[in-house]
Amino acid sequence: MRRFILPVLCLVGAALMAGDQAKDLPKFQGGDLNKYWTDACARCHGVNGNGRDNSGKPLPDAGFDFTDSRKANKKKDSDWVKITLEGKDKMPAFKDKMTADDAQKMIAIMRKFSAK
Ligand code: HEC
Repeated sequence: MRRFILPVLCLVGAALMAGDQAKDLPKFQGGDLNKYWTDACARCHGVNGNGRDNSGKPLPDAGFDFTDSRKANKKKDSDWVKITLEGKDKMPAFKDKMTADDAQKMIAIMRKFSAK
């Protein structure tokens, strides 16, 4: 029995570390979705959606540059809603943090990043 405890503890530890960036993601409480982007999404995607922190350094878990209009324009709103709600690889699922309606409304924020 004892032989199993250590590996199990290691696995749990590794799982916790991997989820570091996704930990403590706030729930959308209503109100300003732009603020919610800053609170919940910017830690990975950057305040400006470009996957960089305030000093311009690339963030480790950005995954996608929303300011790249050439790429962003090829993406469908429906896919972005789905990924926001259900997650994808390192992108955490937000379906228990916001409604499908809110996720749909966030599309406008993500589109604005490339509309400059
Ligand atoms: C823990 C880091 C993290 C957080 C927090 C996060 N994302 Fe992501 N997101 C990612 C990663 C990584 C990807 C790339 C996933 C892939 O394609 O493998 C991604 C991809 C996406 C995509 C798909 C982009 C594409 O490839 O077309 C959307 C849309 C998106 N995120 C929206 C959001 C929204 C909205 C929030 C906040 C409510 C958010 N993300 C918070 C890491 C994060």
